[in-house]
Amino acid sequence: MKAIAQDEGSFREAARALLAQGVRPESVAWQDGPQLSLALDGPPPSASPPGASGVVRVPKAFAALLEKMVCHRDPTRWDLLYRVLYRLAHGERDLLQQPLDPDVRRLELMQKAIARDVRHVHAFVRFRLVGEAYLAWHRPEHRVLRLAAPFFATRFPGMKWSIVTPDESSHSDGNTLRYGEGAPRPEGEDAFEDLWRTYYSSIFNPSRLNLPLLAQKLPMHHRDTLPEARLIPLLARNAGRRVDRMLRPEAGAAAPFLPRDRSLASLAEAARGCTACPLCEPATQTVFGEGPGTAKLVLVGEQPGDQEDRGGRPFIGPAGDVLDDALKKAGIVRGEIYLTNAVKHFKFEPRGKLRLHQRPSARDVAACRPWVEAELLTLQPRAVVALGATAGQALLGPGFKLGPFRGKPQEGTLVPVIIPTWHPAAILRAGLAAQAQQMREELIADLRTALARSRAA
Ligand code: URA
Repeated sequence: MKAIAQDEGSFREAARALLAQGVRPESVAWQDGPQLSLALDGPPPSASPPGASGVVRVPKAFAALLEKMVCHRDPTRWDLLYRVLYRLAHGERDLLQQPLDPDVRRLELMQKAIARDVRHVHAFVRFRLVGEAYLAWHRPEHRVLRLAAPFFATRFPGMKWSIVTPDESSHSDGNTLRYGEGAPRPEGEDAFEDLWRTYYSSIFNPSRLNLPLLAQKLPMHHRDTLPEARLIPLLARNAGRRVDRMLRPEAGAAAPFLPRDRSLASLAEAARGCTACPLCEPATQTVFGEGPGTAKLVLVGEQPGDQEDRGGRPFIGPAGDVLDDALKKAGIVRGEIYLTNAVKHFKFEPRGKLRLHQRPSARDVAACRPWVEAELLTLQPRAVVALGATAGQALLGPGFKLGPFRGKPQEGTLVPVIIPTWHPAAILRAGLAAQAQQMREELIADLRTALARSRAA
């Protein structure tokens, strides 16, 4: 006996008739039919129908999977579906709860293939604007357009779009979703694809390039319909060089992130989005400077530490406690000065649950320098304290060493005077108590010098 089905409706109709006549699965040869029709032929069935009334009750779960299974291109899906339906109707009502059953296992795998294909439609459809509507041509592996298209209707309400596949097409006028004939892939390409490629190159992150994963996520099957797919070999070839550049950022790399308006508030806001160097990736947030715009004394540290990274403010951890104590002893009110760092993101090495401080490199400092320069240009302080060698290098040049210059006021290019001194964390690290005490006193003395210079007319 031969049965033809093309979609859910025709399968239901044919299967219902076959079941009502008690036709066993092995007696039916199912075919993918071009027309929506029930086509039963062959000798009349000999077996008796299930149940006295001949009415077959189908579990809801079967109805739900039927909707998906009809999209699969495997022509044997009808045989499988009818066999499962027959078994459900003949005493195996909990068949679908038997994952080890070969038929159920096959159903499961085919449904997974359908779900994956729907995800691919959502991910790989590329619309182009033609007139006032967005058009896309896509070739799904299975006939999943009707499962996939409602997503776009929800995502783009009010938008006119069409997705055409070789089997059928879907169209939205902004309100209603309709389906129509399919069409072969249109010839030629347009500016939209160029735009898409430019966009893709700019968001492409070479440090995240994982070719095997990409191959898995961007199946061969879809590559010729994705404008960016052609770029991948080139981007992959250059990835090493680009990662190198990212890991070794150029001097002044932060400059393009500076806002036009240079108020402290605008600078702080813009710095939040700075991705000029790789330190931004693992850090929790940018830690910008803080203090009043009227401050005449500025203190520059090295970089935020673990607590500053979490709290978003400079010098709020253990080094901050040492600094607060020294400030108090030097007669400086923290709320009246401006505190910042040479590097605005926490650089660390993960070690289990710990994040171990890593000293920023000369390149990190140079990349971040536009921020500290902008802060100083906006504030126009009378004196700046460089806390430690890194701050000194940011303000006085990469060759700066603290030893010979500590406590000696230096003429700055951006500010009248820079006073290099100990970093509070260096005091915490000092091995001997006497050494720490001496450094503490020197820090306080240097802060007093700076305070005096900041008050000088
Ligand atoms: N060390 C610094 O240099 N800056 C901070 O903000 C905290 C610790």
